[in-house]
Amino acid sequence: MENNHIIKIKDLVKIYPMGMRKLTALQDINLSIKKGEFTGVVGPSGSGKTTLLNIIGALDHPTKGYAEVLGHKIESLTDTKAAKLRNQNVGFIFQSYNLLPIYSVYENVELPLLLLDMDKPKRREMVKEALDWLGILDKIDSKPSQLSGGERQRVSVARAMVKRPEIVLADEPTANLDSKNAHNILERMVKLNEELETTFIFASHDHKVIQYLRRQIVLEDGRVSEDERKSPDH
Ligand SMILES: Nc1ncnc2c1ncn2[C@@H]1O[C@H](COP(=O)(O)OP(=O)(O)O)[C@@H](O)[C@H]1O
Ligand SMILES: [Mg+2]
Repeated sequence: MENNHIIKIKDLVKIYPMGMRKLTALQDINLSIKKGEFTGVVGPSGSGKTTLLNIIGALDHPTKGYAEVLGHKIESLTDTKAAKLRNQNVGFIFQSYNLLPIYSVYENVELPLLLLDMDKPKRREMVKEALDWLGILDKIDSKPSQLSGGERQRVSVARAMVKRPEIVLADEPTANLDSKNAHNILERMVKLNEELETTFIFASHDHKVIQYLRRQIVLEDGRVSEDERKSPDH
C-alpha cells in the first residue's frame, strides 16, 4: 500500500477515434489521490476534465497507461465489475442534476440503495439522513419540478452521498447555480468530507468551486500543468 492512495494513475493516455483522425484528450497523466482529499481537476473547457473524471469513475477506459481505483485496475474491469464498483463506492454529481422527474425526492435519493442489499426501513433511514445532511428533509415528498435549482442540486448531492461512497465525483456541479446556492452546496460538501472522510473530486473551472479545493490539478490540453496543494491534508 502506497500511503493510502485510493486512486493511482500512471502514464495515462486517452485517445478518442474521430473517423480517420484521432483526438488525444489526455496525455502523460500521472497522479495519486488519497482517501479524504477534497480536490479538483481544473482547466478550460476541452482540457480533458470530464474525460479524466469518467475514467476515475469507471465509466470509461484509458487508451494506454494505468488507472487504479480502490484497488481495481480500470483497464481490466469487466462491465459488470465496473458497475459494481460504481454502485458501491462512487457517487456522481452532474451539472444538470440528472434527477428523474416522475419520481419524488425520496425516490430519487433511494435509487442507488435499491442496487444494494438493504431492507426498506434501512433505506428510509439512510435517505432521511442524506436529505438532512443537505438541509432538504422537508422536501422529501416533493417532485423535482417543485424545487429551485439549488434545491435540485442538493437532492443530487444527497443521492450521491446516500450510500456513503468512498469517492464522490462532481462534474461542474455549480454551473447552473447562483453564487449563494453554490456556496451553500460547497460548504455542505466540505462538512461531509470532514465528517465522513469521503474523497471529493471535482471537475470545474468555476472560481467558486476552486476556492474550496485543498488541491488543484490543472489540466491544459490534456496534460497536467500544475498540481498544487493549498493546505496540508487534514
Ligand atoms: N466521446 C468523445 N469522442 C470524441 N471526442 C471527445 C469525446 N469526449 C470528449 N472529447 C474531446 O476530448 C477533449 C476533452 O474533452 P472533455 O474531457 O469533455 O473536456 P472538459 O471536461 O475539460 O471540457 C475535447 O477536445 C473533447 O472535444
Ligand atoms: Mg467537462
